[in-house]
Amino acid sequence: MNDPNLQRLLLIIEESLSNTDFIKLTLSSKKDTSGELKNIYAKVVSVKAGTLLSFVFRYPAKDITRNYNFEEGLALVKKSLEEDFYQAILLTANKDVHFMQFPNGKSTIKQQEASQQMKPVFLHDKQKSLFISPENNLYLQLLGVTTLDGKVKKGMEDKFRQINKYVEVVSHVVEQANMNAGFSVADMGSGKGYLTFALYDYLTNRMSLTPEVVGVELRPNLVAQCNVISKKSGFEKLKFIQGSIEKTVLPEIDLLIALHACDTATDEAIFRGISQKARVIITAPCCHKQIRKQMNPDNALAEITKYGILEERQAEMLTDAIRALIMEAYGYSTKVFEFISTEHTPKNVLIVGIKKNEKEPVNQDKLDKVQALKKLFGIEYHFLEKLLEIPSL
Ligand SMILES: C[S@@+](CC[C@H](N)C(=O)[O-])C[C@H]1O[C@@H](n2cnc3c(N)ncnc32)[C@H](O)[C@@H]1O
Repeated sequence: MNDPNLQRLLLIIEESLSNTDFIKLTLSSKKDTSGELKNIYAKVVSVKAGTLLSFVFRYPAKDITRNYNFEEGLALVKKSLEEDFYQAILLTANKDVHFMQFPNGKSTIKQQEASQQMKPVFLHDKQKSLFISPENNLYLQLLGVTTLDGKVKKGMEDKFRQINKYVEVVSHVVEQANMNAGFSVADMGSGKGYLTFALYDYLTNRMSLTPEVVGVELRPNLVAQCNVISKKSGFEKLKFIQGSIEKTVLPEIDLLIALHACDTATDEAIFRGISQKARVIITAPCCHKQIRKQMNPDNALAEITKYGILEERQAEMLTDAIRALIMEAYGYSTKVFEFISTEHTPKNVLIVGIKKNEKEPVNQDKLDKVQALKKLFGIEYHFLEKLLEIPSL
């Protein structure tokens, strides 16, 4: 390696790993723009195997995560900057470092004051590496997830795991989307509020953000209960409103969330997000009856749908693929992925959309693909199309 600036960067990364002030490293600006890999993020994780560098390789439609020990991780950073990317941004708790290479082989490295107030997630035991700690979180006790002495209650382990995974995923999306200070979050169909509370806690107390978070829920008893817990927990900007996803008046929605909202309630939530130009839409759909009832392919696909269980899975895939396509048609860049293993919950697929460009017109090509899928499966309409008044062929 001849570039002294790259050498310097690697040394700073190594130092920050040993000083435990490393927060995040991003490699971006591809050298060869034809490749699929868009960028790479690295952070530190504490897992059974020890403290490792966790790399997220971001592709257009999926993220791949791999963990490496520090030595392997540094070698990967070096190789990636020599071969694949022009730019590296390192955030530590003490400084930001910006390394940039140019096509003529020159490079620069600049250091400035730390921009991240978030405490580095660089912790040495598994317990501490959790996004949400079971200890000293009154809302977890009041929600019945933990005991008075801060232990996860028997029978609530899966819920607690799900809360942590969900907070991890959403906080990454919030980072990626560069939300404005004081952004507004609407959690549609918030239910008992497990995930709403945890997200509020993480965004405000760990990421030092100041979002206004609203849970919208049909059932008045749950709304009342959640508002009491929010007050007791001192969560000033978290409130719950009784009402429907469709009609509850919310003037601003920057981040719209709908987790396990039943059947077409997910479509109502996506519709609200699209029509209110939410910057981010995150849904975890559940039950896919609307499409399942209509599916009636008159081609070889009938060999799949003749089996109940396969028909159910096919309906899920089709419903969510059309949702993602429609979001793309309305200017969102989308990802669909499993956020927790099926052994903990069967409802584990997330559709995440980040708005790319406010002014882009609706993409007819994507809508044509929706029509093609519907035709293939013999479907008359998808509920989200109806809500958006997309003409059906
Ligand atoms: C399965 S629970 C999920 C709760 C929570 N989001 C979670 O993932 O833990 C779905 C919740 O959505 C609520 N819900 C369903 N349809 C709704 C609608 N149209 N408007 C508001 N809430 C709705 C239900 O009352 C229920 O509490």
